[in-house]
Amino acid sequence: MTLIDGKKISSDLKTEIAATVEDMVANGQKRPHLAAILVGHDGGSETYVANKVKACEQCGFTSTLIRFEDTVTEEELLQAIDRLNNDADVDGFIVQLPLPRHISEQRVIEAIDYRKDVDGFHPVNVGRMSIGLPCYVSATPFGILELLRRYDIETRGKRCVVLGRSNIVGKPVATLLMQKAQPGNATVTVCHSATPDIKDICREADIIIAALGSPGFVTADMVKPGAVIVDVGTTRVPDATRKSGFRLRGDVDFDNVAPLCSFITPVPGGVGPMTIASLMHNTLLAARHEIY
Ligand code: GUN
Repeated sequence: MTLIDGKKISSDLKTEIAATVEDMVANGQKRPHLAAILVGHDGGSETYVANKVKACEQCGFTSTLIRFEDTVTEEELLQAIDRLNNDADVDGFIVQLPLPRHISEQRVIEAIDYRKDVDGFHPVNVGRMSIGLPCYVSATPFGILELLRRYDIETRGKRCVVLGRSNIVGKPVATLLMQKAQPGNATVTVCHSATPDIKDICREADIIIAALGSPGFVTADMVKPGAVIVDVGTTRVPDATRKSGFRLRGDVDFDNVAPLCSFITPVPGGVGPMTIASLMHNTLLAARHEIY
């Protein structure tokens, strides 16, 4: 069994990006510039955005953080998005989600110029991805494919089961794995809350991508010996022994499943660290106009 080291791959990816940026700067180009809008003081969002700013430093990017209180109006937020859309120095930007309930996330996402949408959430990017055109692929699906690519895990002709159909993980990862591409060319089955016989379907799988948000859902009796398991779950469960008071648990019963697998991602340290590196990758593409 090989443990897929997302921390190492993400660090490699950032080192490669930093080297490319130094070449760009040596050639007289400006540094890539990522902006982030953060609304309110949600603990999880604060941590994510702080980590994104730190990753920008590691990659040699310029970063700008724009903060609003959670009383901001939708109109004010849309105006800030418009300013970033029109700021020639900003190559790409994100609006950290979730947003307060009085603001329409969909309206906000669709207000972002798709050419600067390095989160890959705009319907133009989602649509282009689904028909195999160049686009920004969102961070988690890109990170998962990058792990498969860098560990030389064959997907062509494999039976792949995706557990979960969310817009940010299940649907795009299923779309990418069935695409005529490498990685891709898999035979994909998507299971969700209305799927009967999930255990039987999983037992047929060469690759399982678990993205349900249900801790320990994938048990050893659901896994074919030699299968590849990618665990996208990151549920916070109470843990009094931790300073934070919680620990992260994946969707896979790791202790019992890992001995059966050819490859498996741990939680934490698997898919999680890849997401921010993927955002840096998209920002570099934006700065180099490699997509649009
Ligand atoms: N909230 C949780 N994950 C993400 C992400 O990838 N992008 C944004 N903008 N918000 C998030």
